[in-house]
Amino acid sequence: MNIKSIESLNHNMFILRFKSFMGSIFSYTSNSASGETHKKTKLEIATRLAYPAYYVDNVVINNLDVSLTTNSWNILMNGGPTAPFIKNSQRHDFNYATSLSWFFDIFYERFFALCPETRPMFTHVSIVSQGKLLAGVISSALTHLSDTDRLKTRLLGMVKAHNGKGVKSSYYGCMGDALVWALETVIGDEFSIECKLSWHRVYSYLLSIILPEVVKYEIEKTRRSMTWVSKSRSNSYSHTNSVGRRIEVELDRVLLPKHTTKSLPRKTMSVTVLVHGNS
Ligand code: HEM
Repeated sequence: MNIKSIESLNHNMFILRFKSFMGSIFSYTSNSASGETHKKTKLEIATRLAYPAYYVDNVVINNLDVSLTTNSWNILMNGGPTAPFIKNSQRHDFNYATSLSWFFDIFYERFFALCPETRPMFTHVSIVSQGKLLAGVISSALTHLSDTDRLKTRLLGMVKAHNGKGVKSSYYGCMGDALVWALETVIGDEFSIECKLSWHRVYSYLLSIILPEVVKYEIEKTRRSMTWVSKSRSNSYSHTNSVGRRIEVELDRVLLPKHTTKSLPRKTMSVTVLVHGNS
């Protein structure tokens, strides 16, 4: 390999490293089925990462989803004993008065098992009254699934109040998990596999309204706790390759946690690139 090709190799490697570095921080591109390239924003990427494993992308709720979720929810809310409740009542250590109180209890226990750090948030609240509030929102969501504006207003109001309480995006996914698990446990065989899928679809729809707002709030909150280091501390790199194209890379601003004074974590760098000459 001659000197020129080594130079161009170095140059290409530099570009490659630079591209992968930029890509990992700010955005990446994906190709849709129609061949269109869509550049994902930081918010879209962060929101995607917050979705749970059962999340159904771009879900459109159909009549079957509405009827299966509403029927199973009514079985629970009507308060009558379900088959698993009757079976468990024969156990001497089973102390629940109704299927509903059993549901609230195991729902929160399951939720706390999935997200243990949330338990202290509920120490001063009655789980049954808390469960009733949550159930109220879910009942209303099921009734108004087709009234998107009304549903959005209600959920976004709830999100705003929850952001202030420190409820993180990841907790909402765990809550859906706990919800479906508790429904299945309390309702038993009447909770069919189709019904479970409909619950995942409906809850995914709620998450598609809730999570972008929560993630936006989390990104803003992180940004507010960071500060820009002035341009005078900038770093630059300049390279002219064998065909006379000059590339300048300038680390122009660095975003750091407010209290940080020394190290410049690579992940938080913002870079400007200037390419001179013919492409
Ligand atoms: C679809 C999901 C959710 C719905 C529909 C919902 C609904 C509600 C409602 C209606 C209230 C009472 C009014 C209020 O304070 O805003 C409430 C309170 C609360 N929620 Fe949620 N919630 C959801 C998810 C969560 C999650 C994931 C957490 C995680 C920790 C959480 C924690 C709390 C807490 C700590 C309170 C306040 C309890 C109190 O101090 O009285 N919620 N929720």
